[in-house]
Amino acid sequence: MRISETRAGARSITLYDYEPTPDRICDDVVRGLTRRPRTLPPKYFYDEKGARIFEQITELEAYYPTRTEISILRAHAAEMAERVGRNVRLVEFGSGSGDKTWLILEHLVAPAAYIPVDISRAQLVDFAIRVSEAFPNLRVEAVCADYTAEYELPDDVPASRSVAFFPGSTIGNFEPGEAETFLGRVRRLVGPNGGLLLGVDLRKDPGVIELAYNDPQGVTAEFNLNLLRRINRECYADFDLDGFRHNAFFDDEASRIEMRLVSERRQAVRVGGGPEDGAALEVEFHQGDHITTEYSHKYDLLRFAGMADAAGWRITDTWTDEREWFAVLLLE
Ligand code: AVI
Repeated sequence: MRISETRAGARSITLYDYEPTPDRICDDVVRGLTRRPRTLPPKYFYDEKGARIFEQITELEAYYPTRTEISILRAHAAEMAERVGRNVRLVEFGSGSGDKTWLILEHLVAPAAYIPVDISRAQLVDFAIRVSEAFPNLRVEAVCADYTAEYELPDDVPASRSVAFFPGSTIGNFEPGEAETFLGRVRRLVGPNGGLLLGVDLRKDPGVIELAYNDPQGVTAEFNLNLLRRINRECYADFDLDGFRHNAFFDDEASRIEMRLVSERRQAVRVGGGPEDGAALEVEFHQGDHITTEYSHKYDLLRFAGMADAAGWRITDTWTDEREWFAVLLLE
């Protein structure tokens, strides 16, 4: 881990840097491509370009989760802030461009610190500086990390309690077992009187869900394929981006979107074999073979409550939109 001070004008923020090394990314890629079904971890979507494409997704007409969640936050942020309490240390996982963070921060009373945690360093630093400029009295300490891996949170700021903020329904990108493990880990991170303010995408008409991941503009397809571009660059791979196509469908039984990259033809792809790591892995694809790149689970509230309970949490507040497409929950 590296600690550095980043300055912008009169403002400075502390950056705790646990950014995954290229070695770690390539190990995960090789592990995913050698198992069946072949998988690639969705957390690696978010290189600089991927983070930008994701921002475009959130503005699409077809992609309902972001604007629905924002409408809930706008309508209830004051009440949420009151329930979260005063003088808290707010830890945000996957802060991204932080559109939702402002809504909460603006309503918090005398927050002690804001700690965004994100894997995409450029976006994290940029956002942390903007928060620090907008809230000059707020202590901002940024942590660049894969929040499912090992890292520590700075804890030298006195506060009434720690509350985690995990919007966007990114919890849905974990498999249910992983989601439970993550929830348990957050519970330990925030301590016995901590809280978690969490966004969860809910079950609804599968047509609505499928359209959100198959937008007519093809932005989600570009987001999916950009993962191969990143792997080519960082893991010495030679994926032909024209040789794979985006596919996303709703699996009703598992209650999740499954996003895939499907091979358009028979082909072999080389991964690895860079200057330092010797032999490359060769992965063979037949026409129609796929790599699963993401799951996006859509929960019903009862099922989610069971999972939260198993991880030691209790849902104390639930805010939803009129159609009940999305929920923001406070867990204590
Ligand atoms: C970040 N996450 C909640 C998004 C989702 O909806 O599962 C990622 C995404 N993938 C395709 N579109 C959006």
